[in-house]
Amino acid sequence: MKKIKIIGTGSYLPEKVLTNDDLAKIVDTSDEWITQRTGIKERHIASSDQATSDLGVIAARRCFETFDIDPKSIDCIIFGTVTPDKLFPSTSIYVQKALNMPNIPVFDISAACSGFIYGLAVANGLINSTSMKRILVLGGETLSKVTNWSDRSTCVLFGDGVGCAVVEESHDESGLLSIYIGADGNMENLLHQPAGGSRNPATFETVEKKLHTIHMEGNEVYKHAVNTMQMAAEKAISMANISSEDIKWFIPHQANIRIIDTTAKYLKVPKEKVFVNIDKTANTSAGSIPIALDQMNRNGLLKKGDIILIDAFGAGFTWGASVIRW
Ligand code: ACO
Repeated sequence: MKKIKIIGTGSYLPEKVLTNDDLAKIVDTSDEWITQRTGIKERHIASSDQATSDLGVIAARRCFETFDIDPKSIDCIIFGTVTPDKLFPSTSIYVQKALNMPNIPVFDISAACSGFIYGLAVANGLINSTSMKRILVLGGETLSKVTNWSDRSTCVLFGDGVGCAVVEESHDESGLLSIYIGADGNMENLLHQPAGGSRNPATFETVEKKLHTIHMEGNEVYKHAVNTMQMAAEKAISMANISSEDIKWFIPHQANIRIIDTTAKYLKVPKEKVFVNIDKTANTSAGSIPIALDQMNRNGLLKKGDIILIDAFGAGFTWGASVIRW
């Protein structure tokens, strides 16, 4: 079995920043409520002419340039997103076109906040079972486009952004020591976008009722997120044959600071080992882990040999976790 490793990372957060005070002018909320309940202070918002692929293209270019990766050496593009440019074709198609990487296979993965970890798992499988050598895995969203800006219980939580990583076979100690993904469709109605697909095609009524936006039972999602993120992390730790004391960095999905703190406590990972950027990014769904990885990588926080645990949970429900030796 080949072990894969990350050889480059990239990310892009749109320029426009929306603060909690800005939101308090739109809905009945406050900086104090949002900060206390979520840890979020501000989020980035894509411009009206920016689609998810546009953010992905910038993230990928940054990765190629910084880590000296020739786009022509990439054998496949995988994009984890639930806010595609269009329902079809895939968002990866637009990344491929913009970056001039013709003829390679490209596709999207719909696994919500777990999309990037699902992408890594699929890339691992492809490198192990085909002649593909290098794969670009992106994750991220323009959730602002499907946000109900009059629903204070959801509009304060999300932000836009895309991150990415290039993976290939590892020939040294570094690489993915484990990867675990899972899903349970029984609670799909707790977090979803009800209309726009074949179940509820777009009509004047679906638009009027705002059924093309995020609908969420926040309390229920919260409970499942905490328990499932712990379970997924423990599974990945045991598959990698390490103990939680070996972890140098825990990089959880950035959904809510209380989910992050509770999961870290359950896993007995001390606070100083937990990476948090939710205050600046909010929840970017599939973008949250690759954006965090790239910010840490660029800031020199990740040293060769470090053991990193990534861990996500999202709509579906879906989940995934991986132990990586950097
Ligand atoms: N500003 C002010 N008050 C608000 C706001 C707001 N933005 N939103 C809700 N409230 C009010 C509610 O109306 C309610 O008022 P009431 O008591 O008069 O009825 C009160 O605050 C408490 O509401 P709760 O929903 O009980 O608040 P809670 O402490 O559970 O926090 C939250 C809500 C932040 C959504 C929390 O449940 C949560 O984080 N859930 C996880 C959801 C999540 O992160 N989803 C992201 C996608 S999934 C994933 O990424 C893991």
